[in-house]
Amino acid sequence: MDFKKYVRDIENFPKQGVGFKDITPLLKDPAAFKAASEELLRFIGDEKVDVVVGMESRGFFYGPVLALALNAGFVPVRKVGKLPHHKISHTYDLEYGTDTLEIHADAINTGDRVVIHDDVLATGGTAKATCQLIEALGGVVVQCNFLLELTTLRGASKLDGYVVNSLMRY
Ligand code: PRP
Ligand code: MG
Repeated sequence: MDFKKYVRDIENFPKQGVGFKDITPLLKDPAAFKAASEELLRFIGDEKVDVVVGMESRGFFYGPVLALALNAGFVPVRKVGKLPHHKISHTYDLEYGTDTLEIHADAINTGDRVVIHDDVLATGGTAKATCQLIEALGGVVVQCNFLLELTTLRGASKLDGYVVNSLMRY
């Protein structure tokens, strides 16, 4: 299936000069939505997975879908201040300023095999921070799994040493 047909380019969103890849047409089309989940699962193959971690917000579309299919649990990584229980944080640098992601401290057990999923791999900052949160709790990241990768931003090189898979590359 030509998945790119279901990704809409929005110019100057969320700010001037930025080109946004809108995946909502993919989510809305029943056949494309399902086929994309099957392809994301094919990347994982028969890897044993205990937990799928999805990053707020757009990692929450497919993260739980993958977890259900894999018979794994789903764990959200959230933006700062959203999680209610004991948590750990990781702050990372952006082009201008910093961002912080959080995970519940009891969400990952030592030795858990974890797939992280997000919609987009851009600079890799979000994914790298997520891997660091998982590893701080003793988890093992078996794959970083994305719907699409913006290759010019070189996120995959920030994830050097991890298995990185994406369904679409731009
Ligand atoms: C976007 C996207 C990824 C991240 C990728 O999320 O959904 O999570 O940026 O960028 P990076 O590889 O440079 O870190 P955003 O922070 O815009 O928030 P959202 O998912 O809540 O829309
Ligand atoms: Mg996001």
